[in-house]
Amino acid sequence: MKGKKILLAAIAASALMLSACAGGSGDSGSGDGGGDGGLIGVAMPTKSSERWIQDGDAVKAELEAAGYKVDLQYAEDDIPTQVSQIENMITKGAEALIVASIDGTTLSEVLQTAADADIPVIAYDRLIKGTENVDYYATFDNFLVGQQQAWTLLNGLGLTDLEGNPVDGAPEGPFNIELFAGSLDDNNAFFFFNGAMDVLEPLIEDGTLVVKSGQTDIEQAATLRWDGETAQSRMEDLLTANYSDGDQVDAVLSPYDGISRGIISALTDAGYATGEEWPIISGQDAEVDSVKAILSGEQYATIFKDTRELAKVAAAMAIDILAGDEVEVNDEETYDNDVKVVPSYLLAPIPVVKDNVESALVDTGYWTKEDLGL
Ligand code: GAL
Repeated sequence: MKGKKILLAAIAASALMLSACAGGSGDSGSGDGGGDGGLIGVAMPTKSSERWIQDGDAVKAELEAAGYKVDLQYAEDDIPTQVSQIENMITKGAEALIVASIDGTTLSEVLQTAADADIPVIAYDRLIKGTENVDYYATFDNFLVGQQQAWTLLNGLGLTDLEGNPVDGAPEGPFNIELFAGSLDDNNAFFFFNGAMDVLEPLIEDGTLVVKSGQTDIEQAATLRWDGETAQSRMEDLLTANYSDGDQVDAVLSPYDGISRGIISALTDAGYATGEEWPIISGQDAEVDSVKAILSGEQYATIFKDTRELAKVAAAMAIDILAGDEVEVNDEETYDNDVKVVPSYLLAPIPVVKDNVESALVDTGYWTKEDLGL
């Protein structure tokens, strides 16, 4: 709780710093250097997921409010496309780069070109690995995201509250659970899965939770490119191979809303119907279709990561670097990219279940009631 307060105070402080910056430089339109209308390149992975569209729009708006021009590109999850988009940004004279990578290990060469041209690089949401040429990292507490995903499952099963504290009169189980992880080329996938397994493993060991498929390694649970259809077909296979005897799946760990939607389709196709027997399913990103699925009872929870706050932090980093100001970070030990520990700013994720959809997502203006069909 104390940690959360400090974090929130830090977020508020960084928002203030940003608005101070924007006020000081927002109206000038040309020249080089901090806040004077130079170009900043923003590379996003794909438009196929709603969150990245919101991220891109929010980063662009923050930078433009501070007087910068923005080259915002999406690579449709194609690695060579992302590399050439970043090359183009460098050629066009970008003064800084903000990059949400597709594969965190594939950018070393192009980032060397950026470093040779003295262009600072900020890793956005996903860590860029295997290079010294990444200056800062703006993200969420990704291990906590994984823990929260597991806690939402336990909460849905009646075992704990949303912070993982045991509740009185909890059922004994055992409960059948299956596990999904994200894309192995995305460092976040490991943080989410490890965070979740930190919570789930003791319960698997004591028999409260049973993974009938036996697939408990991240390599077995992984979903290339976080693709919903890939997850759907793995879930279909899991159901056929392990639940044809009439046993039910009680919970499914899903690291991302798009994957959760694939899992839901597989369950529906296999004859599961919402109600008593419908499994508890986690998620992440508070995507609009998945929030609707929470309201209708198909998905139990998501993890809300406010992309507007992440955009503010990343934009402030770029603006501060270019102005020669100190960049605010709050973690200098967690994110080792195999070459160095990248100084990071971690934001706090928020678990969302049916009960707090309105307070977490509508009252904060992230979604409107109309968006959610409320
Ligand atoms: C992760 C990100 C998640 C989710 C996922 C799929 O890197 O942290 O929030 O968006 O990618 O896009």
